[in-house]
Amino acid sequence: MACENEPMLLDAKARGLRNLRLSVTDRCNLRCHYCMPEKEYKWLDRKSLLTFEELSELVDVFISFGVKKVRLTGGEPLLRRNLDEFIQMLALKQLDDLAMTTNGMFLPEHSQKLKDAGLKRITVSLDTLQAGRFERLTGQDSLNKVLAGIESAQQAGFEEIKLNCVLMNGFNEDEILDFVEFARARAIQLRFIEYMDVGGATHWQAEKVFALSDVLRVLGRAYGEVSETSSDPSAPARVFRLPSGQKVGVIASVSAPFCGACDRARITADGMFLTCLYSDQGFSLREVLRNGTQEKVVKKLINKIWSGRNDAGAEDRQALAQERQAIFSLQELRQNVHREMHLRGG
Ligand code: GTP
Ligand code: 5AD
Ligand code: SF4
Repeated sequence: MACENEPMLLDAKARGLRNLRLSVTDRCNLRCHYCMPEKEYKWLDRKSLLTFEELSELVDVFISFGVKKVRLTGGEPLLRRNLDEFIQMLALKQLDDLAMTTNGMFLPEHSQKLKDAGLKRITVSLDTLQAGRFERLTGQDSLNKVLAGIESAQQAGFEEIKLNCVLMNGFNEDEILDFVEFARARAIQLRFIEYMDVGGATHWQAEKVFALSDVLRVLGRAYGEVSETSSDPSAPARVFRLPSGQKVGVIASVSAPFCGACDRARITADGMFLTCLYSDQGFSLREVLRNGTQEKVVKKLINKIWSGRNDAGAEDRQALAQERQAIFSLQELRQNVHREMHLRGG
């Protein structure tokens, strides 16, 4: 239950806990090169996945600490069966926002159901508008399905649709203006994301990052003066306005980290609580939930973990400068699958 009178829970750097990102499955139907470049993966045992009831219980605890926004992520969240039932459960809670990040391929058959269940906003990940490139990047010739998915989301009438595009130097930076036009024509909010050296990105190299400053150069050259708007300091995206009035976001996690105001907690599908996208270790909440532990004990544990949090993963990575390379080797990922980005949900 949300407790209005409880003081906001702060971490060791005085950062609140406002955002909860729930990964509902580790599975994905795509194999994007920046996230899942390997041929084989070890999947979570189905029995270890938290049930919707268990997840809902956890969400209540997080709400009591100040969480106002919940985002469902994956893997690909629409691979979790009956997700709309879970959304219905979440929609009854005291939340300001309920959103989901998806690769969009299953949206044509799900958009309306998700909207009717109470999902407010949807973010589609799409990194190229060229069919051949899409197949090379993801391993599937399915660009048209994603485009149909975006259209279905527009028809379903979500409060907001966003498009996330990870830029990789030498792969898709020549599509920046095509994306701006694509988003303008559909009144979708576009965000470019810097390619990050997170777990799973074993082919990451500093030279492949197309940084915020590069994006601004391309936009400035094409459209003229680009001005930054004032945006929520805890939000990953910085938002820029083109002379036409169109807004474009950039998530500059590599070149301009935003850890100072980070209010995001992550739970993996099997109940691992992560206090940073770059964390090496998490705290498994599954056993605690399954032991019939009283809610107040679960609360105490989460309180203790968040109070002790001093992560600034992206800032630490930036400090490595020339030494910087993919954070975990393939061997380290195989040793601990929870290091993988596809379990953490981006
Ligand atoms: P809004 O609620 O619409 O503002 O969404 P968001 O930008 O918080 O979430 P989204 O899932 O769209 O995030 C986009 C991408 O930003 C993720 O896939 C990550 O690549 C990156 N990102 C999100 N949160 C964090 C974070 O806490 N740290 C870092 N370093 N990157 C993040
Ligand atoms: N760099 C940047 N973003 C990434 N994502 C996954 N891996 C990376 C990475 N290496 C994020 C993207 C994608 C979402 C599913 O996860 O935002 O759209
Ligand atoms: Fe938050 Fe960690 Fe991302 Fe920094 S790197 S913004 S601390 S999740």
